[in-house]
Amino acid sequence: MDEVTFRSDTVLSDVHMHTPSKRHLMVRLNTVGQPVFLSQFNLLLDKSCCDLGEKETDFKKENIKCRQTYGKELEKEDNPNDSAKERKASEGIEALLDEDGDLELVRKPQLPDEEAENLSRNKVCPIILTKGSDILEEEEHKDSSNCEVIRIEHTMATPLEDAGKQVWRGAFLLVDYILSERDLFKDCTVLELGGGTGIVSIAMATAAKTVYCTDVGEDLLDMCERNVALNKHLCEPAGSEVKVRMLDWLQDELCTDPDISHSWSDEEIAELHDLTTVILAADVFYDDDLTDAFFRTLYRITHNLKNPCTVYLSIEKRLNFTLRRMDVACEAYSHFRSTLNDLVNLRDGKVRYIIEPLGLSFPQCIVYERVEQLELWKITAVRTSEKSSTLEKQK
Ligand SMILES: C[S@@+](CC[C@H](N)C(=O)[O-])C[C@H]1O[C@@H](n2cnc3c(N)ncnc32)[C@H](O)[C@@H]1O
Repeated sequence: MDEVTFRSDTVLSDVHMHTPSKRHLMVRLNTVGQPVFLSQFNLLLDKSCCDLGEKETDFKKENIKCRQTYGKELEKEDNPNDSAKERKASEGIEALLDEDGDLELVRKPQLPDEEAENLSRNKVCPIILTKGSDILEEEEHKDSSNCEVIRIEHTMATPLEDAGKQVWRGAFLLVDYILSERDLFKDCTVLELGGGTGIVSIAMATAAKTVYCTDVGEDLLDMCERNVALNKHLCEPAGSEVKVRMLDWLQDELCTDPDISHSWSDEEIAELHDLTTVILAADVFYDDDLTDAFFRTLYRITHNLKNPCTVYLSIEKRLNFTLRRMDVACEAYSHFRSTLNDLVNLRDGKVRYIIEPLGLSFPQCIVYERVEQLELWKITAVRTSEKSSTLEKQK
């Protein structure tokens, strides 16, 4: 018998599913023919709207209202007082049968078009603009000095290998953490692995001194570079810089070929090793082989650093039905956790890794749904000699 294969390699981030259409503009096709959109993400930086735990924003209230409405709709469907069921209870199943004994389905009344439109998720109405057109320039310069907005070019519904061209919820979680703990990162040198569109690095540049935003693929790195340029006003107050560079977890060495775009200079590599104290990665654990490659890279880099380093990793536990198990499982998450455990148990006499999950009670600074499947992990990488002297000092 022929083996059945499933192709389901197109992914769409929840972030883009709910982006309101008026904040959404298709600006061009990228070099591989994918439509590129420009989204604006508002930063809720003032105290009054930052802490969603205490003060619900309009969005959250709206969300709750929507859930309540939806909940009520579901309840109504289950409710024995519901008209169809009531009839069924009082008149028996016969009341729902037609003359020939066929079951007549009671259909929900159709909503007027306008109402249905409001209930459905916002549609994206793409307009293709040529690069450099007036409208695009207007968009580029609009609010260009507004420090409460991050503007990101991205694509939607990409093949899995282009997932970095979309923004993922894990990136928002890390942005929230960075913006609420800015003092921790003041003047640091930071490395982001698998930075995608660059949104996390851009947020980090509001506090840090230098951020190396790294990923693979010329097209993606170009898009990231453009996003850094679109948001340069956010880096200016801190006098910081985001450098977009190529860093492939499947390669042992950093690319230094000057003919290849986004390659590294020797000075940058030296700076990376001498000054980096923070490493970030958002939503990069969805394929076991890549997860292994990521942790090998992390191991290699942390062994080359001069200083102790703190690593922040965000992950969204995604439930998938697997044919192998014939059940729902979070296989990528389980692999991530077991690799984390391997890191803790590592005894190579050089670097020790201390791992802790971080609570998510920090304020929400971007509007998105902070679902319970999101997690943030902190890894402290310390040279073994430094760790013992730190412990001795503590005695
Ligand atoms: C799901 S996306 C997350 C992107 C971004 N961090 C975010 O959360 O919006 C995963 C990222 O990992 C990157 N990635 C995958 N394989 C990689 C590799 N071998 N080396 C470096 N980055 C890789 C992808 O290009 C992509 O940007």
